[in-house]
Amino acid sequence: MRIGVFCSGGDAPGMNACIRAVVRSAGSRGHQVVGIRRGYQGLLDEEFYRDGDGQPWLSLRSVSGISQRGGTILGRSRSDEFRTEAGQVKAAKILRKHGIDALIPIGGDGTFRGAIAFANHWDGKIVGCPGTIDNDLIGSDYTIGFSTAVQAAMQAVDKIRDTAESHDLMFLIDVMGRHSGYIGVHTALASAAEVVCIPETDTDIPGIVPQLKELQQRGKTSVMLVVAEGDERGGAADIQKKLHDAGCPFPMRHVILGHLQRGGSPTPEDRILASRTGDLAVRLILQGESGVMAGIVGEVDRATPFSDAVAKHREIPRSLLELLDTLSR
Ligand code: F6P
Repeated sequence: MRIGVFCSGGDAPGMNACIRAVVRSAGSRGHQVVGIRRGYQGLLDEEFYRDGDGQPWLSLRSVSGISQRGGTILGRSRSDEFRTEAGQVKAAKILRKHGIDALIPIGGDGTFRGAIAFANHWDGKIVGCPGTIDNDLIGSDYTIGFSTAVQAAMQAVDKIRDTAESHDLMFLIDVMGRHSGYIGVHTALASAAEVVCIPETDTDIPGIVPQLKELQQRGKTSVMLVVAEGDERGGAADIQKKLHDAGCPFPMRHVILGHLQRGGSPTPEDRILASRTGDLAVRLILQGESGVMAGIVGEVDRATPFSDAVAKHREIPRSLLELLDTLSR
């Protein structure tokens, strides 16, 4: 069998370990893997990864020494052409032409929505791996890249705290997660921040001010507030302004962490998750599965239909928010 692997959407640390796992897992079972460069757009442009010998496939050796590297050796894209029916028909023709029988997309919700639409035009097998820092997919406890992103954000908050404490300041730290507060809540817990603002809960600006005044009365001279970029009251800069207008008792600064969170060498958790899901995706394809995402739930392999993986918003456990509140006093 010939399996095509590609990365789509935002890059996530651990994608390389996932590509390696796909290549080695398929290779050890006698199957060949073709690396499609730049996601769905690269498929339309027939851009295949060439290994050290110039061959348009991923040999076992071509994925040596990549697990520790952030980003993705295959590149990624967000493709407008692939969103069209004509684009998908063209992509199916290209796959037939190159004898590719199955696809393993590594990405997030947009990637899997693309795969659902593509299944109407192509009869090969498609099994995805959860590759996004956002941790917003149903069907895997964690997604590839989330752990590394939280680590990067936590380390940034730790550093900023030094200045916050030295200058008696409150910092608002803007973290990624366009529609999800997962990075925000985990970063806030890991870095012992006092407050977190996320899209899943109502950010009550006038309600936060008395909380901050109470913290000041208890002797706190500096505060760390983590803001998920997708919060309904805006990012860190907007919330800073709104808190100022509502009478925040601390002088404030804000920092936007941005793409700093997506880079860097993946954590062991991300490398292991990537290895497990990459291998699982290959095994699922060989078992005849299609239209599913390979995930790990409670340490057990899980195949979740793409439509379920992206069907609804993944909620944040309330217990995490309550814990943050209890510990911030
Ligand atoms: O979906 C992953 C993600 O990193 C989001 O958290 C973030 O909002 C978005 O991608 C940023 O996308 P881009 O790199 O295209 O600006």
